[in-house]
Amino acid sequence: MPRVVRVSPTSPEPEAIADAAAVLAAGGLVAFPTETVYGLGARGLHGADVLRIFAAKERPVGHPLILHVDGEAMARTLATSWPLLASRLAAAFWPGPLTLVVPRAAHVPDAVTGGLARVGLRAPQHAVALALVRAAGEPLAAPSANAHMHVSPTTAAHVVRSLGDRVDLVIDAGPCAHGIESTVVDLTGDVPRVLRAGATSLESLRAIAPEIAYDAAGLTVQGDAARASPGLASRHYAPRTRVVLAGHGRAAADAVRAARGTRIGVIAWSAEARAALEGLALASLLVLPADADGYAHGLFAALHEADAHALDALIVEAVPDAPAWWAIADRLRRAAEP
Ligand code: TXA
Ligand code: MG
Repeated sequence: MPRVVRVSPTSPEPEAIADAAAVLAAGGLVAFPTETVYGLGARGLHGADVLRIFAAKERPVGHPLILHVDGEAMARTLATSWPLLASRLAAAFWPGPLTLVVPRAAHVPDAVTGGLARVGLRAPQHAVALALVRAAGEPLAAPSANAHMHVSPTTAAHVVRSLGDRVDLVIDAGPCAHGIESTVVDLTGDVPRVLRAGATSLESLRAIAPEIAYDAAGLTVQGDAARASPGLASRHYAPRTRVVLAGHGRAAADAVRAARGTRIGVIAWSAEARAALEGLALASLLVLPADADGYAHGLFAALHEADAHALDALIVEAVPDAPAWWAIADRLRRAAEP
């Protein structure tokens, strides 16, 4: 068991933040809450500390990590140039679940960027994360605080279960508000491009910058491209349980009947599916909210639960094909990939 300290999510106790900052200053790893998922943090300008993150996650070195900052001023110190669009997006969405990929400053360690000439930056909208960045006095490198290729943690208990003693301290501020990772936008190419759909919707991004490109179909990539942006690798968000994507409503019940194995779980959201599933023998049935924000909030916890229940298969009802649901559809697709 790692050391776990409980704090207030809105006004974290200064002693707890100082304690965590001391762990970081000694080169340690601190798991901390953000508004999206829990992050596994190390001092972002100390390459040796950052390498410990990869060891703890058993993640191949070379995958770029996000640097968490307390705002645009700190972000600018980490970039060789700061496009006008970066300022507009930061003004509109920071602090918040948006990661901006910009040209990297020379003093950002290779361990952070995987040797790439660009760096991903975000100011999280969580009092604990912001307090920790300020107490550390430098940006914090932090991927999601789960073992490589596992589902991102939305509670401190998920972190403890996935990483155990490989993290020095876990700051527990309760469940994360969004429950799905930040949207990643690359500002270094000819056109700004969404690299990973996430908690900031494409609609809200395009309200600020209509030219932002998003190619949902092209987002599952393999090989070198996947290494350049690992959120794009298939199976990046997979639970151990076999996930089967079913259709909408009655089709979810049909998929249960067709499933192999005896311990079948279901994640549904529609009244139609609920009615069709009535009377079927299920090891677990979770009905998530019918709105995208509510659904996202519960999804990763549901995938963690599936593993805890030792299901033979988890049938997931198709979600609506609307922009607000794209990030969720993306995670489900990855969770289900063979
Ligand atoms: O919400 C989040 O983004 C969470 C919290 C902890 O902030 N973090 C997170 O980190 O999900 P991680 O490492 O699991 O995912 C980072 C994503 C990946 O898709 C990665 O490819 C992309 O950001 N990324 C980071 N730096 C990049 C860079 N320099 N170039 C391209 N993509 C980058
Ligand atoms: Mg991750």
